[in-house]
Amino acid sequence: MSDAEFLRNQWYIAAAAGEIAATPLARVICNEPVVIFRGNDGKIGVLSDRCPHRKAPLSSGEVVGDDIQCGYHGIRFGRDGACAHIPGDIPVPMGFRARSYPALERHGFIYLWMGEATPDESLLPDFFENDDAGWTPVPGYLHIKANYELMVDNILDLTHVVFVHKTTLAGGGVTDTPLEVEVKGDRIFARRMMFNVDTAPIYKAAKGLHGKIDRWQIFEWQPPSFVKVVLGAREAGSTTEAEGQPTHVVVNGFTPETDRTLHYFWATSRPWALNDSKVSDLYKTMIDLAFGEDMSIVERQQKLIDSDTSGAPLRAFPFDHSGVGARRIVRRLRDAEAARGGTQAAE
Ligand code: FES
Ligand SMILES: [Fe+2]
Repeated sequence: MSDAEFLRNQWYIAAAAGEIAATPLARVICNEPVVIFRGNDGKIGVLSDRCPHRKAPLSSGEVVGDDIQCGYHGIRFGRDGACAHIPGDIPVPMGFRARSYPALERHGFIYLWMGEATPDESLLPDFFENDDAGWTPVPGYLHIKANYELMVDNILDLTHVVFVHKTTLAGGGVTDTPLEVEVKGDRIFARRMMFNVDTAPIYKAAKGLHGKIDRWQIFEWQPPSFVKVVLGAREAGSTTEAEGQPTHVVVNGFTPETDRTLHYFWATSRPWALNDSKVSDLYKTMIDLAFGEDMSIVERQQKLIDSDTSGAPLRAFPFDHSGVGARRIVRRLRDAEAARGGTQAAE
């Protein structure tokens, strides 16, 4: 997949909000080097990391007031990209500015709009569980050497938990219960409801569920690569917890870095034991282990895809349908962007 194939007129998670403090952060998003910084007023700025003077990294410099000062010759730029100061009181030439990207902070993440169209906040995911008083999030980040769509495939097919996550997320009912998939507009909804099945290590450890359980995996995917997963379990047949009620919710943002690398931002939030650090530690340990296992299998999968000269296509079975559907929607939106020349307002 080439960079021309990334959707442009979309939001991508560029950072966790807590990553951006006084020091500018350099990051590559969709093959573009950017610098993310926070002015003294607390607001986020994102500029091309390529200084328009001599193309040195702006991120090598520092924040001065609400501006960023390039670390090479000290030229300053505001978060709108306008040049604020050239040392030696040299007048700013017409049109001399850094490229600025629309960015905003929402639910504990910094979102970046990569295209030329007017940013559309209605396209942001509703990841409220990551900073809501009624939830406790356990966040994480992985840098993965694979195309981002392989990780979207991975999370949209949770059949793999049985085989990849034997000590954490595996359990009964997963392979013999079909995934119900529904496509509504540009979104994909999928669910797998399992009743009276063997428990899973994570539900044993977190909730003390040692016997048979009812269990569910409920997903929502939206472009370009946001996935909310509601995961829950109760004692089999219990009526005290409703069907579909979350034990925890995992919000996921898969941000392309390059064609073969991605930034994986996630947070696992629970609406119970809010101040119990032991529960948070347990989640952190188990989810870090599980997502590390995903990274390992997907990185090796990417290598084998790239070294395959047979021309054989990837095959899809019913449990792959939500991932295949997501790819189809991304391609349709990409074709629409290409037809518009990428400059008009997003739909
Ligand atoms: S390269 Fe940035 S100020 Fe010269
Ligand atoms: Fe996984």
